[in-house]
Amino acid sequence: MNINKKAQTFFEDNAVQWSLRGYNYIDHNYPVALHRRRILLKIIKSNKIKKLKFLDIGCGSGDNLIEIAKLGHSIVGVDSSKKMLNLAKSKIDKLSNKISKNIILVHKPILEYKDEHLFDICICMGVIGYIDNEINFLKHINKLLKKNGNLIISSRNRLFNIQSLSFRTLNEINNKKFKKLYDEMKSYYKPLKNQSINLFLKNITKLNFTKIKNKNTNKNKIILKKNYLPFTEPKQQTPLEMIKLSKRSNFKVSKFYGVHPHIIDPSLNKMLPEKVFNQMSDALTAFEEEKISLVWSSVFISVLKKSK
Ligand SMILES: C[S@@+](CC[C@H](N)C(=O)[O-])C[C@H]1O[C@@H](n2cnc3c(N)ncnc32)[C@H](O)[C@@H]1O
Repeated sequence: MNINKKAQTFFEDNAVQWSLRGYNYIDHNYPVALHRRRILLKIIKSNKIKKLKFLDIGCGSGDNLIEIAKLGHSIVGVDSSKKMLNLAKSKIDKLSNKISKNIILVHKPILEYKDEHLFDICICMGVIGYIDNEINFLKHINKLLKKNGNLIISSRNRLFNIQSLSFRTLNEINNKKFKKLYDEMKSYYKPLKNQSINLFLKNITKLNFTKIKNKNTNKNKIILKKNYLPFTEPKQQTPLEMIKLSKRSNFKVSKFYGVHPHIIDPSLNKMLPEKVFNQMSDALTAFEEEKISLVWSSVFISVLKKSK
């Protein structure tokens, strides 16, 4: 099977809503995709080569590929959802020809997209959780990359199940995996760099909760349907599991970044006024390149280098 049918239906049914939630601060919602993109662009901009060939696997509504094309790189976006690609197309149509000529969209499940050794960098944000066989998936991506090519990929962080005190925490206890996850977490408690501590202190002194009202009265605010219909729970990995998956598919992990950090128990989010919890998460981005961020972040990004 080349596609997870449940995931395909989920993105067809929820394309607009997913895109709004992913990229906007609305109500208590934390825009995880927006922060993934921020980190993704930080990684890409640290590479000084101007014209690289990118592949965006599961490009969705095109928000990542457009920013990469604006940097002057060429990019192919592949996605199995027609509705998601339509959203991407409507955004690309508004771009100047100088930028839009860098972008190609392809409607296909990624395992059916075959073009060997073509790309310098593959990006894959928010997709691996919907893939049935991760090893086949990563091996397939490996073939699409040039020698020494890179894959920048995000995962839902399984380690966060220990922090979240949710049904996922109970599942880990019932599956007898809690101790293993706890041991991995402990290994990430390393001394913090002064630079990150100073940035965090600067961030928290800028926080201002006094202006926050309990009810958001903004008349222009975007209205969201309450829940996705029906929600598809993505699979998760821990950073250590990503290291193991990478080895088996001929990649080597060169760096991790934590995304969506939580300073306090996530169940408090909706009990507090809007913006309080998210402002604290934003302050914690100071530590996103430190190992500790892998403990308290619900998502992480891995930068992988093709080794063979
Ligand atoms: C969570 S969205 C992320 C979209 C985009 N990467 C972003 O970060 O804005 C996941 C996307 O992956 C696509 N997808 C899931 N499985 C796929 C597959 N096997 N092949 C191609 N696209 C897939 C979905 O249709 C959806 O658009």
